[in-house]
Amino acid sequence: VDWDVPYVVSRSLSLEVARTGRLAGTTSLSRRPAHLDPEGVPVLLAFAAGSTPRDAFERLQEEWEIESEGFEELVHRLLEENFLLPAGTGIDSALAPAENFGSIHSHLYMLRDVVRVMSYREAIRNHAPGRTVAEVGCGTGVLSLFAARAGARKVIAIEESRIAEVAAAMIEANGCSGLVELRIANSRDVELDEPVDLIIHEILGTDPFEEGLLPVLQDVRERLLKPGGRLLPYRLEVCCVAIELEERSGSDRARMLAEARELERLSGLYGVELGPVREAVAKHEPRVQRTRFTVDKPLFDRKVLSEETRILDLDLQKGDLELAGQLAPVPLRISRPGILGGVALFFRAHLDETIQLTNSPFARATTWGWDVRTFSQLLPVAAGDEVSLAVEVETTFRRQMLQIDVAPPRKP
Ligand SMILES: C[S@@+](CC[C@H](N)C(=O)[O-])C[C@H]1O[C@@H](n2cnc3c(N)ncnc32)[C@H](O)[C@@H]1O
Repeated sequence: VDWDVPYVVSRSLSLEVARTGRLAGTTSLSRRPAHLDPEGVPVLLAFAAGSTPRDAFERLQEEWEIESEGFEELVHRLLEENFLLPAGTGIDSALAPAENFGSIHSHLYMLRDVVRVMSYREAIRNHAPGRTVAEVGCGTGVLSLFAARAGARKVIAIEESRIAEVAAAMIEANGCSGLVELRIANSRDVELDEPVDLIIHEILGTDPFEEGLLPVLQDVRERLLKPGGRLLPYRLEVCCVAIELEERSGSDRARMLAEARELERLSGLYGVELGPVREAVAKHEPRVQRTRFTVDKPLFDRKVLSEETRILDLDLQKGDLELAGQLAPVPLRISRPGILGGVALFFRAHLDETIQLTNSPFARATTWGWDVRTFSQLLPVAAGDEVSLAVEVETTFRRQMLQIDVAPPRKP
């Protein structure tokens, strides 16, 4: 630890109390949350407005009994975890381990998705020429390179994970070092001399919010985008279709419910009323199944029971992005009879007014696959029925996840 270098708390730090009662925090999608011991809290607070370790230590000493050795060790850990950064640089002092987006695997997969990459390339060619551009989450740098090639005046490529090392090599290999400036940091820790005309982002998950899209965009559009500037994509629709889940192929819960229905027959055989067991199964784990799976196949093979239903339509550029908790219920109109077991969730990202990118089950398959959510109950439905969907946005460490279930029927 250098005692005279000013450090500051990362703006991307999010802390939560874990179920174990311990405090945990992370600054990045690609870093596992790390524990913070209680004595770390006042130390962190001492750096909140920016401070050298020497000044922070002196201030802490006024109120706490604190040893310089223990303090130094704590500061070292806070730096290692990127909870603290050198002030004013926004530079990631310690790159996260090669996990999640820090690993090349996910990027290889994304780069091979021609639908995704070419849609972005076309939209970037429409909007980058003559503009100053920033990209949030440049990964291997491919979209930033498109912007440079399309004639952007300047491109700032921001990437928080270790994949930034590959982006640096890509920028160099493509002869764009003079035009593309790589900033290795979380976007929250990046400051620009001047806001830009265009912000490109592809931090869309299969659940579109799971990579922290909304809080990230809210921050960058406020701080890094010129008034009247453009976000690419600028609009996001979140949609779903109702799907049938075969009784035995669904989730554990769906299977359990199907098995419990057999108890009706067994009540007769055993001569014992088994209704309470069935009811107990129905009450068990009443929440929607959290496990999400993507279907990495070229064809969507589930029986679809509804037309496309829109859950959200977000104006990323000007709209309210502070989504949290329970949202308004969404009516889902059934168009084919079957056993309603869940929904396939997908998005339609409007890269601009003419180019859209979607992982709809009815469109060409993309790297996102399909996100199939299994409801907490199976529901026989007929064409023309309307069911109500309960939609909730859950947030942990600024990552969000949509929870969708059939809403319980309203009491008269
Ligand atoms: C889905 S990948 C897309 C990569 C690249 N733009 C492409 O299209 O191939 C998203 C990338 O954004 C990075 N990322 C996500 N949120 C970020 C943030 N707030 N600041 C910096 N990087 C971020 C991730 O580490 C990841 O590499």
